[in-house]
Amino acid sequence: MTAVSGDWGGGYVTDIAYLPGYYRHQSPLHLNLACLLGGSAGIEIGPASKLSYLELGCGQGFGALMLAACNPAWQVIGIDYNPAHIAAARMLCADAEITNAQFLEADLAVVAETPVWRELPQADIVTMHGLWSWVGDATRGGIVRLLADKLRPGGIAHVSYNALPAWQGALGMQRLLLEAGVRAGGRSDRQVAAGWELVRAMADAEAHHLRDGDLVRSLTGSSQQLPIAYLAHEYMNAAWRPCFHADVVRALADAKLDWVASAQLLENFTPLMLGEEARTIVARFDDPVMRELAKDMFLTRCLRQDVFVRGARRLSNAERDAALAEVTLALLPQEAQFAWEFEVPVGHAKIERKFFGPIVAALAEAPQRVSALLALPELPRHDNPGEVVGMLVGSHQALPVIGPATEPEKPVRRLNQAAARRFVRPDNLDTGMALAASGTGSPVPCPMLDLFIADRLQSDSPPDPAAWARELGPAQPPSEQDRLCGFIERVITERAPAWRRLGAMPCHGAAST
Ligand SMILES: C[S@@+](CC[C@H](N)C(=O)[O-])C[C@H]1O[C@@H](n2cnc3c(N)ncnc32)[C@H](O)[C@@H]1O
Repeated sequence: MTAVSGDWGGGYVTDIAYLPGYYRHQSPLHLNLACLLGGSAGIEIGPASKLSYLELGCGQGFGALMLAACNPAWQVIGIDYNPAHIAAARMLCADAEITNAQFLEADLAVVAETPVWRELPQADIVTMHGLWSWVGDATRGGIVRLLADKLRPGGIAHVSYNALPAWQGALGMQRLLLEAGVRAGGRSDRQVAAGWELVRAMADAEAHHLRDGDLVRSLTGSSQQLPIAYLAHEYMNAAWRPCFHADVVRALADAKLDWVASAQLLENFTPLMLGEEARTIVARFDDPVMRELAKDMFLTRCLRQDVFVRGARRLSNAERDAALAEVTLALLPQEAQFAWEFEVPVGHAKIERKFFGPIVAALAEAPQRVSALLALPELPRHDNPGEVVGMLVGSHQALPVIGPATEPEKPVRRLNQAAARRFVRPDNLDTGMALAASGTGSPVPCPMLDLFIADRLQSDSPPDPAAWARELGPAQPPSEQDRLCGFIERVITERAPAWRRLGAMPCHGAAST
């Protein structure tokens, strides 16, 4: 489908590079929590664990490198068939002097027949973000074979994909984009731009299938703000095919994988997802696949984040609670910035202040085990470790950690610096990235802007938010630069303390690399 690259892509875009990003759902510590919340045994992850982590379709490898820098004892491998991606990942890896990550160029459709196959270890965790529903049957078949042979018994797999039925109202829109784009010719970023131009013109002319449905409206609305490389990789793949959960479960059953949970932790709490009537219908079914299908009929979210285990071991409620009580959590925001309310599919969720107030106050002092948090004398009740983990991590306000933060090690400092200097641009400051950190095992998720600020705060000169805002928005009017300057000042007071607390930045002064 692409006009100027070779034909090795199997229907996936290969002529422009994908963008770097960090997705917290791929972190093994996070996936372990999802397993426990789903009532299945996860895997033991401690400070000395020699975890073997494999990412399929790793793009430029930013997520894999984050995990490697934060966990020097792990063996991290990223696979992608695009040599431009592998070259970029290897260069960043070398710049950061990370020695426990490796990037392999291989086509997943045929990897079992290549020498790369022998290099792949039995992995504890395999993740793939943005791969499954964007590739064709041959690649999916290769992925299933890889999971069958290379994910160890009891190992965890993470698969994200565009989900049906949520996507059904926009199938016509994607096909129109693809067909119009291909006919326009040229590189796939130009193709997708031409496709969007037609979609917008037809939406303005009230084409029926571009008019109805919130999804089409929100996609057409947001597309103007999204980077063109993202749009090309999202829409210009001939093999693009959203999936029902039931079909992904069936396909992965061939590798003996069992679906256990959603990596979007709040999705494992049905009362936050569905109203009472919907819950009564879903509760008719014991079969988790039927329950998920029924749930998906009510939900508008279009990307599923599924967690599978190769041979799930189901836990009793008491075993699950005991395992969750052993989890250590670190608070992300400062106590004053903690969000007590957030939006969920059923409306407005409020975090119960009476119960969580003392918990958040204790976490503001230091990371704590869930068992210690539940033992706090001020709590009105002392039960439900799943609720503590689910609400705090699910609302993105806490991270699971494996140890106390330390001063950032050299690869952590170098990766944060190299990423800031390589990736930050005036037009991508909102992109979801992360800062690597030492001691905790967990990268600290943050927007791209924070990479820039963290890097500048570690330079020798005193902070100069006004100059930084001019540098980041050279073409912006002074009012916009003032707004950005104010925002940078807030990040320095509100977020930078967490970077120090969590091992992403030295506690005192600047650090040399
Ligand atoms: C949408 S991107 C996602 C990249 C990365 N996981 C992320 O989320 O940032 C999909 C990635 O899969 C890779 N890919 C697609 N088909 C592949 C195949 N058959 N074998 C290996 N990699 C493939 C692409 O090159 C691309 O980097």
